Amino acid sequence: MKILITGAAGQIGHRVVRHLAARHHVVAAIRAGDISGIECVTMDIAEPLSVRIAVDHVMPDAVVHCAAMTNADECEKNHTLCRRVNVDGTRALAEESARVGARMVYVSTDLVFDGQKGDYAETDVPNPLSYYAETKLAGEQVVAAISAGYAIARTAIVFGKGGIPPRGFVCWLVESLRAGKKVQLYTDQYRSHFYLGDCAAAIGLMLENNLTGLYHLSPGRKESRHAFGMVLAEKLGLDRSLIETIRMEDLAMDAKRPRDCSLANGKFVSATGFEPTALGKSLEYLKSEFEE
Ligand SMILES: NC(=O)c1ccc[n+]([C@@H]2O[C@H](COP(=O)([O-])OP(=O)(O)OC[C@H]3O[C@@H](n4cnc5c(N)ncnc54)[C@H](OP(=O)(O)O)[C@@H]3O)[C@@H](O)[C@H]2O)c1
Repeated sequence: MKILITGAAGQIGHRVVRHLAARHHVVAAIRAGDISGIECVTMDIAEPLSVRIAVDHVMPDAVVHCAAMTNADECEKNHTLCRRVNVDGTRALAEESARVGARMVYVSTDLVFDGQKGDYAETDVPNPLSYYAETKLAGEQVVAAISAGYAIARTAIVFGKGGIPPRGFVCWLVESLRAGKKVQLYTDQYRSHFYLGDCAAAIGLMLENNLTGLYHLSPGRKESRHAFGMVLAEKLGLDRSLIETIRMEDLAMDAKRPRDCSLANGKFVSATGFEPTALGKSLEYLKSEFEE
């Protein structure tokens, strides 16, 4: 398969590129620069002409759409740009993909839920609390309306080393603890922390199994952010005393966060036989990633 991957320098996109490049012809769509050993094409998802030129140049069989404006607080401050990237950009990409007959996998988020219930299945009704989540849900709807063989991969929060440069929650946590800085983690927010290598593999399975429709990608368990940070620090030999507890109401954030948006993974597991890596094992993998 010839696969075009957007957001290829991002945390998830970069790992998806590395995972799929071992088995397929992968072309990485990036805003600037290059990725060593990978064919790249320049694409600004917020510019429809740029999307059209890139898709015409690559003529992919499939597109994995990871590019997005992902900082929820920035999205709250700049609705116009957020909508342009997450909704209009997704529409442009879905239209161009449909035009050249490419299947599309759209990467969405657990944050589409309001967190009142937890353990969400694909049949549960989303109710986004933040503008970021609202635009990601609108992106799902755009893709479903335009792409015939679309697939939506709603993934849980990921942990792992990914991106050029590496980025995301875990990079921040590991770097802070290594530098001896105190961090505050929520005791009252629960997520299905999903190993990045598993997330990339699961997105690959969606493509390779020709799945269509909506799937939740998750390890099928949940921890509070604080509990997760404590286990991570222990496994990586970092100073757990630097991790302080905090409750969501104690921190003024622009974007509202759900209390429990953990995802159930039964539909995806039944469809593919996917076996998530146990938390302890994935933290061992994570440790070696940060030792590289
Ligand atoms: N991380 C998570 O825990 C998580 C959980 C659930 C769902 N998701 C979803 O997974 C996807 C990937 O997330 P991530 O964590 O990998 O995010 P990320 O690290 O912030 O990567 C996002 C990527 O999108 C690119 N991008 C942003 N604006 C663009 C534009 N105008 N044109 C082209 N590319 C643009 C960025 O480019 P630059 O590299 O140039 O900045 C970056 O490579 C997103 O759709 C997100 O909603 C993430």
